[in-house]
Amino acid sequence: MTLSSYHEVLQSLSEGSVTKRFDPYVDIDWDSPEFAVHSDDPRWIMPDEDPLGRHPWYKAQPVERQIAMGMWRQAGIAKVGIDFEQLLIRGLMQYLISVPNGDPEFRYVTHEAAEECNHTMMFQEMINRIGYRDVIGMGSIDRTLTMIIWPAVKYFPELFFTLILGGEEPIDHLQKSLLRGGADLHPMVARVMQIHVAEEARHISFAHEYLHRAVPSMHPISKSVLSVAFPIAMRVMLSMIATPPRQFVDKFDIPAEVMREAYWASPGSRHIKRDVFTDVRALVTDIGLMNPVAHRVWQLLGIDGPASRYRSEPARRVA
Ligand SMILES: [Fe+2]
Ligand SMILES: [Fe+2]
Repeated sequence: MTLSSYHEVLQSLSEGSVTKRFDPYVDIDWDSPEFAVHSDDPRWIMPDEDPLGRHPWYKAQPVERQIAMGMWRQAGIAKVGIDFEQLLIRGLMQYLISVPNGDPEFRYVTHEAAEECNHTMMFQEMINRIGYRDVIGMGSIDRTLTMIIWPAVKYFPELFFTLILGGEEPIDHLQKSLLRGGADLHPMVARVMQIHVAEEARHISFAHEYLHRAVPSMHPISKSVLSVAFPIAMRVMLSMIATPPRQFVDKFDIPAEVMREAYWASPGSRHIKRDVFTDVRALVTDIGLMNPVAHRVWQLLGIDGPASRYRSEPARRVA
């Protein structure tokens, strides 16, 4: 990809951030009666798209318990979302320090950070209304990741944008499969997801475009390192985003066996795990990061498989 076509993409993404934007306190009618949260509302039951929600153990729980778990989990996913967005915002601000005058990356990256700030407010508002005050996000892993992100932004920005993609793709994949699969979601959750998916499409495009431009001209050694780090980053980020924390497991007494099967020993959950990265595998193949060693790592981590022919193909197939 030439620099000028990269700049054209940045320009159109930036314009999109102006014409298709949302404000969590203008575009979400938090106090509307249909958004009220009730602890006997079956729409909080975890859907089949969730690896634990589809598990027979979960389905055999009393309805009140399924609802309570679904509410905590929904708030927990939003909390992980906040932690992740904040890591990203910190990294983007640091990245911008070295962007020179006149470079269109400045405007787009700042738009993206502003949107992520809005997402954190939107997620926190939803958590507060769900009402579980003990919900936690990434926990201590957050601090470890902060330490990795700082040097990555400075010395290995391609790895930083890979980590971002590793966080964005699983959240986006899950939200799109819920919205397109027609799950009966609580309207507050559905609204938050619609807004998030709409803005996230730009962020994911940007990460793809950035890597398309930057990776082919990387030094062969860094490129080999990235080809192996790529699937590892995807796998680690998927665990952080998709797997509920210890606190959730303890609170609801989920048997270890059930957790093991849901994440990711059962064939159904394995399928979900592979499906999340269909678009990413297409990207990696395109930019020359799918060499034999890297392919083996993708396989060992259980996230290999076909690549999509166009972006978000698998989610459409679900619908
Ligand atoms: Fe976001
Ligand atoms: Fe994002």
